[in-house]
Amino acid sequence: MGFRQSRLYGEEMPQILAIDDDEVSRKLIRGNLSDIARVSAVVCGRDGLSYLNTGNKVDLILLDYRMPGMTGLEVLKQIKSRDEFREVPVIMFTGEENESLESQALEAGAADFIHKPLVIPVMRQRVMNILNYFYLQNSLQAEVTRQTKLAERRQEEAEQLFEEMIMALAQAIDAKDHYTHGHSQRVAEYSAQISLLLGDEPQQVRLIYYMGLLHDIGKIGIPVKIINKPGRLTDEEYDVIKSHSAIGAEVLNPIRIRPELMIGARYHHEKFDGSGYPDKLAGEDIPRAARIIAVADAYDAMTSDRSYRKGMMSQKVYEEIAKKSGSQFDPEIADIMLAYLKENMDGE
Ligand SMILES: [Fe+2]
Repeated sequence: MGFRQSRLYGEEMPQILAIDDDEVSRKLIRGNLSDIARVSAVVCGRDGLSYLNTGNKVDLILLDYRMPGMTGLEVLKQIKSRDEFREVPVIMFTGEENESLESQALEAGAADFIHKPLVIPVMRQRVMNILNYFYLQNSLQAEVTRQTKLAERRQEEAEQLFEEMIMALAQAIDAKDHYTHGHSQRVAEYSAQISLLLGDEPQQVRLIYYMGLLHDIGKIGIPVKIINKPGRLTDEEYDVIKSHSAIGAEVLNPIRIRPELMIGARYHHEKFDGSGYPDKLAGEDIPRAARIIAVADAYDAMTSDRSYRKGMMSQKVYEEIAKKSGSQFDPEIADIMLAYLKENMDGE
C-alpha cells in the first residue's frame, strides 16, 4: 500500500522520534513503522527535548498530547521555538475529543494531527505522507541551493576568464612595445584610482580598469619598427602611430557583452579642447572613461622612460598636468589627479 511511497524517502531510512508515555502506543508505533523508518521512543517531553539536544538526527516527531510533566503542546512550542528543530515535522497524537486542542496544535506548527486509539493503516499512511512531503521539500531546497551555487561558480569562472583574457591581451600589447613595458597595466591602475577618487561605484571602477588595460590594443596593428623607433618620429610615422586608436576600437568592436571597452581605445587621445584624435571630440562629448584614461595615459607617458626621452620628476609632471588642465585634460579629472599627486609628493 504505502510501501512504494516510503521508498520515495531517499536511500537512507528516515529517523522517527516517538514521544509518548503510553507503553502500548510506543509498541504499536515501533511495531508498525519499523519497516519504513528507524524509530526511537522516549516517555516524556523532557526526554524528547534532551534527545533532540544531543544532536540525534530526527526526520519526524510523533508527539503524544497527554503526558506527565510537559503536555505535548508545550513540547511542540519548545521545538518550534528553536531554529535547529523548527523544520522537523511533528505529528500530534491525542485520545481527547477536543477540537480547540487540534487547532492549537496546528497553529503551533504541527504538521498533522492523529486521534487515538491509533488506527494503524491511517497512522502509517499519514506518517509516510508527511515524510515524503518533507523529503521532497528538503530535496527541492537542497537542489535549489546546489544549482544556485553552481550558477554562481560558473559566473565567477566566466568573469575570471574574461579578466584573464583581457590581461593576456594587455600583455600582448606591452610585449610589442619594448620602451613602455607594463604601460597598459599601469594606465589601468591609474585610471581605476582616478575613477575611485571621483566616487564611482566599484563596478564602474572595474570597467574603467579593463578599458585602461585595453586602451592601446590598436598598437597590435602598428609596425614594430615604428613603435620601437629610438628618437623622434617623422610626421608620417606619427600618423601611423595615431591610427592605433581607431584600430583598437575595431579590434574591440566584436565584444558585444562589454561595448564600453572600445570607448577607451578609440577616444583616449581626444583632447578636452577638441584638438585630439581620431574624432576631434571636445569637452563632455568625449566619453568620461576616455577622459580619465587620457590623464592616466599621459601621466604614465611622462613618468616612464620612452624611446625618445627619460621619465620626468614628479614636480615637473605635476606642472605639466596643471598646465594642460582644460586644454588637453578635463579640468575636473586633472584636479583629482593633481590632488592625488600633491598628497603623494608631500608624503615623499
Ligand atoms: Fe594610446
